[in-house]
Amino acid sequence: MSGTSLSAARILLIIGGGVAAYKALDLIRRLRERGAKVRVIMTRAAKQFVTPLSAASLSSEKVYDDLFSLTDEAEMGHIELSRAADLLVVAPATADLIARMANGLADDLATTALLATDKKTLLAPAMNLRMWLHPATQRNVATLQKDGALFVGPTEGEMACGEFGPGRMAEPLDIVAAVEAALAEPTTLPLPPVARAPRDEKPLAGTHVLITSGPTHEPIDPVRFIANRSSGRQGHAIAAAAAAAGARVTLVSGPVAIPDPPGVAAIHVESAREMLEAVEKALPADIFVAAAAVADWRVAEIGANKLKKGSSGGPSLKLVENPDILASVAQSPSRRPAVVVGFAAETENVLAHARDKLLKKKCDLIVANDVGEGTGVFGGRTNLVHLVSKDGVESWPSLDKSEVAARLVERLAAMRDAAK
Ligand SMILES: Cc1cc2nc3c(=O)[nH]c(=O)nc-3n(C[C@H](O)[C@H](O)[C@H](O)COP(=O)(O)O)c2cc1C
Repeated sequence: MSGTSLSAARILLIIGGGVAAYKALDLIRRLRERGAKVRVIMTRAAKQFVTPLSAASLSSEKVYDDLFSLTDEAEMGHIELSRAADLLVVAPATADLIARMANGLADDLATTALLATDKKTLLAPAMNLRMWLHPATQRNVATLQKDGALFVGPTEGEMACGEFGPGRMAEPLDIVAAVEAALAEPTTLPLPPVARAPRDEKPLAGTHVLITSGPTHEPIDPVRFIANRSSGRQGHAIAAAAAAAGARVTLVSGPVAIPDPPGVAAIHVESAREMLEAVEKALPADIFVAAAAVADWRVAEIGANKLKKGSSGGPSLKLVENPDILASVAQSPSRRPAVVVGFAAETENVLAHARDKLLKKKCDLIVANDVGEGTGVFGGRTNLVHLVSKDGVESWPSLDKSEVAARLVERLAAMRDAAK
């Protein structure tokens, strides 16, 4: 079976030294079939069971095994290995690795990467049943679970040693299902935030980025309006990330309850027509990101005074279409920014609607998300997005909105460079 359920997910797979290590090779294949990028660390003991060459061939990546290798540090430091992953997977998780993790040891590359991360770890234990049932292992598993580690298996069955009981590693497809489930949740552990040292290079330096964010309010009368549930969190996070990347940022925001991000020029508007006017005034820009949830319709005739209850039942509101801000910027004959990105918040057929929007509005990228009931996207802190462009669809795992913003800004910089 193949598919794209893990499209663009970045997995750091740590292979421990157990008989089940051979199944980790199949796991690499299964993860990659579904679109994941897999980078492998092998422990010293793991190399007694499977070769780094097999893991490198199946992952199409260099396999890492040495904490003190100077070339590896130059190419990809040990901290960067876990930072560049969405999820860490340990398979097979030996009794020894579980014990070292539970005690916070960092005496080889595998355990150092496992300790130097704020990402979740999924363990697939595999060991002799007496090792698994030993109070020391059970104590270590309980400690790791308390720390937020996820487990899949072990299952019951016949062991390589001939005994029968719990300790067999979960099958690769069951581990894949556990990876998918883990990625559907936020993958960052609730640790205190760590400030990153400012970098010299600012990918959006010298670029004007124009962003819309939040909902619009369409007045019915002087006291009432039609609104939607957009909180502005995602658009504001993109504005903050673009500013941090060195861009001059203009943020045109509908009414929101969150503060303006630092370092951006914020313009506050209420209705779709005001938003369009502010956007037109702020042009020209190099990049336009339409993240606002702009009302499709407004009330045709706004009451001059507060509408009153009458004997003839409720008033009927006639709605007329609002201007299409995204389409008008994307199709501007003289002032179209080099990169135009729209958002599609949908409750059904998310990808089909997004593709349709990409073509109809003539933008370069649509960031599509499901905002249906129960997704918690509107107003929430996380987002699960699909990037739809003429090249296809790239689905990201569930991420904090600030992480979606940081990744999107990297993409915007690359798109701006490609458009030059
Ligand atoms: C033939 C053989 C099979 C082993 N199988 C396992 C196993 O399935 N699970 C386990 O936890 N340890 C197993 N061990 C012991 C580990 O290899 C040993 O604890 C090693 O130190 C683990 O290193 P690592 O955790 O760094 O990979 C096995 C050892 C041998 C010699």
